[in-house]
Amino acid sequence: MYGKPHPPVVGFLFLWTTMRQTTLKGVEDILPADIHRWQFLEQQADEVFSRCGYQQIRIPIIEPAQLFVRSIGEQTDIVEKEMYSFTDRGERQICLRPEATASVVRAYLQHQFDGQGGCAQFYYYGPMFRGERPQAGRQRQFHQVGVEAIGSYSPLLDADVVMTALRYIECLGLRRYRLQLNSVGCPEDKTNYAQQLRDFLSGQRSGLCESCVSRLERNVLRVLDCKNSACRQIIASAPHIEHAHCAQCREHFAAVQEMLRSQKAEFEINPYLVRGLDYYTRTVFEIPHGQLGAQNAICAGGRYDNLVAELGGSPAGAVGFAFGMERLLIALESESTAISEKTRPLVYVAGLGVVAMRAVFSIVQEIRAQGVAAVFSYEERSLKSHLKRADKLKANHAVIIGEEELASGTILVRDMRRSIQQSIPSSLLRSALEI
Ligand code: HAM
Repeated sequence: MYGKPHPPVVGFLFLWTTMRQTTLKGVEDILPADIHRWQFLEQQADEVFSRCGYQQIRIPIIEPAQLFVRSIGEQTDIVEKEMYSFTDRGERQICLRPEATASVVRAYLQHQFDGQGGCAQFYYYGPMFRGERPQAGRQRQFHQVGVEAIGSYSPLLDADVVMTALRYIECLGLRRYRLQLNSVGCPEDKTNYAQQLRDFLSGQRSGLCESCVSRLERNVLRVLDCKNSACRQIIASAPHIEHAHCAQCREHFAAVQEMLRSQKAEFEINPYLVRGLDYYTRTVFEIPHGQLGAQNAICAGGRYDNLVAELGGSPAGAVGFAFGMERLLIALESESTAISEKTRPLVYVAGLGVVAMRAVFSIVQEIRAQGVAAVFSYEERSLKSHLKRADKLKANHAVIIGEEELASGTILVRDMRRSIQQSIPSSLLRSALEI
């Protein structure tokens, strides 16, 4: 209608095409066609977690790098190899958050939730960043939905957090998952166990992979996560952490299991589950999904009783978990769980000719002001092309205005589903559209 700018010369077009940018490796766009799946995960989280006593929190994507070094642990894979850290213009060490637990505890202390009595319960969803080798179910930018409950040492909290995770999975409609549970004990138990494991593995050093040999000295518990088949064979006869538990930790874990059994929650004990982040104490859990391949944990979490004190607060017991949202979507797809797309009535308004297009602009504003969705074309089109577009957008009605309609004060309203149209006075548009 208003003419195009001068066409770019061919050489420029070629250069422009070859320079087209794409996402970084391990980072994906979430396109409009998939948004309803993400909204489904978020809406179920809003519903289930608020029903279980949690309130939503939105924490920043950038944080001081030190926050994660102190909480996740200096000698963990995340901190050693995977954090996206940089120095900003003020010479501060910043990083893109690799997870949310440390940020939530930071926010809990910064905003004095610790002084409010009772347990502070938060839930969140959003992107996390880890520079891992991308593969199915593992991205560099991925999304988590999770909860953190801070302020109780009771095993009732561990059991309630696990039940909340199970409730969420059930509301999503997943079936093919398992719940694995273990206890890593208190820090003293962990240290004792680390020594027992080191003693055991030192005798098998020659059979371990190179990474595990270096883990022996630096962070021996990480050996238990190794996927190498030779290491797995050795690990299968390694001592179990439960033998290093003190009486209180044993009692705590027994109480958690008893409460879960009282709810008929099915779980299995995985004696080698210790988790890759250092802040865990006592209960830890993971939920693998049967259809997911190597990266099969859809959820992981546990208790972290020392983190609040580690980040400067008064000691407070805490438990939480996080689900990987990409993995949840893969799991839902593998179980053929239908996620319906919510649609709303849409009106497509077609203007034939420059004058009619201006009238269309006003009509569209009026329809939208009535709370109904309406769209139109910014460029001139033939009637056939307008109707094709209306069909593609799944419009319920197409309203057509040409010079003839303008002159007679009428409009054509086409019911797109039934392919019938009628000419009506423009004053009757609202009733024809049932607005
Ligand atoms: P995490 O095991 O590191 O724990 O991550 C939790 C979940 O996030 C994993 O089970 C997985 O589903 C997903 N996930 C992790 N890394 C990736 C990745 N690179 N690509 C795709 N999905 C991934 C935590 O982050 C703890 N903050 C959980 C927690 C909360 N513990 C206590 N409170």
